[in-house]
Amino acid sequence: MVDITTTYAGLKLKNPIIAASSGLTATLEKVQKLVDNGVGAIVLKSLFEEQIEMQGASMMETSDYPEAADYIAEYVKSEEIAKYLELIKNIKSACDVPVIASINCFRADAWTDFAKNIESAGADAIELNVMRLETDLFAASDNFESQYIDIVKGIASQVKIPVTVKLSSHISNIPALIDKLRAAGAKGVVLFNRSYRTDVNIENECLTSGKIFTTEADLHDSLRYIGLTSAVVKKISYCASTGVHSAEAAIKAILVGADAVQMCSAIYKEGPEVIGKVLKGIEEWMQRKGYQTVEEFRGRLNASDIKSATMFERMQFMKYFSKSK
Ligand SMILES: Cc1cc2nc3c(=O)[nH]c(=O)nc-3n(C[C@H](O)[C@H](O)[C@H](O)COP(=O)(O)O)c2cc1C
Repeated sequence: MVDITTTYAGLKLKNPIIAASSGLTATLEKVQKLVDNGVGAIVLKSLFEEQIEMQGASMMETSDYPEAADYIAEYVKSEEIAKYLELIKNIKSACDVPVIASINCFRADAWTDFAKNIESAGADAIELNVMRLETDLFAASDNFESQYIDIVKGIASQVKIPVTVKLSSHISNIPALIDKLRAAGAKGVVLFNRSYRTDVNIENECLTSGKIFTTEADLHDSLRYIGLTSAVVKKISYCASTGVHSAEAAIKAILVGADAVQMCSAIYKEGPEVIGKVLKGIEEWMQRKGYQTVEEFRGRLNASDIKSATMFERMQFMKYFSKSK
């Protein structure tokens, strides 16, 4: 028997597989299925700052009293928050699984009170889903980073439970930002969130939405940045997300330095049973390789030596380009 327990952002997990934030974790019934299939932890579907504001705005359109705006916005927010807190309490009393709440936020001050309520409701951690797209021609890049840092500082200072940050891969110097997030109080980072895919329909000549689900081929950015950053920024946990569909992908992520991995598309496509398949695959691989614990192979292939650092930093297919016409 091998030991597949791990520690992620200070949480002791019975195994490294976390169900990622999505519709899969939006109700107690769905979470129960993930737990029955052995998941190590779950991240609840995000509560979206934007979504709450939009709901408030659409209710305001039906109101004859403009001065009702603030009242409606607050009402919608508190209703949504109350439902979310109820969900946390229900899952914690029905399931033996660490629950990571998820907030999608883009303002530093918007969720600080709510973070305390999440903690009181029994959540084990908070994942901040910070997805920003900077398009302002005149914005300084350090301004962009400081917004992430302010959000983490604002929330981490309010709660005792660990705060983690799920990042987009479309940001500048990722290792430097992660180091600053660690200093601001983040206990873990999730690399990476998947952004909405823009596509084009050439027959109708209109913009459309691209594929929602990932494939295993989408894993590479997570491997690169976990491999690079885990070698130089310590005292923060790493979780791989995007493209983890199999035991092989989970093992790769752990070998480059991940403490845990998140799965979403594979569960949507194959059902919660895929979790058991991945766990079995990890155990079989560990037995075949003679590893007793996850810690024995975690980070073995990160960028801590010059040879692997060079591999992670390679950006171009030089040999391929020079040989092919
Ligand atoms: C239908 C769907 C809903 C999602 N909802 C959220 C969400 O509410 N919050 C969040 O942080 N990520 C959300 N995600 C992103 C996933 O958590 C995950 O980061 C992404 O799908 C990449 O992982 P995968 O390759 O395992 O699918 C969603 C993804 C899908 C497919």
